[in-house]
Amino acid sequence: MTYVVAEPCYGCKYTDCVSACPVDAFHEGEKMLYINPAECIDCDACVSACPVEAIFSDDTLPKEWASFKELNAEMSVKCPVITEQKTPLVDRNKP
Ligand code: F3S
Repeated sequence: MTYVVAEPCYGCKYTDCVSACPVDAFHEGEKMLYINPAECIDCDACVSACPVEAIFSDDTLPKEWASFKELNAEMSVKCPVITEQKTPLVDRNKP
């Protein structure tokens, strides 16, 4: 099992998930974050940290976002690790 960052993260990058992660499983792409399945320890801590509910375990990943599992595996190894929370791409105070 692993956890997967799905479509709601795209264009947001709130990065609250990064602070919740006890290992260095998150990688930062230009528009969204990705979880490296080789690093993820399936702890579930990031799921509730994400304000837009973008993170799912691979067995609860909604069907329409199934391709994000492969995308996370592919992109996480191409993008740098992110270990600290940063300013999101969207304004946190706007709906
Ligand atoms: Fe993305 Fe949610 Fe993390 S928007 S950066 S998965 S807190």
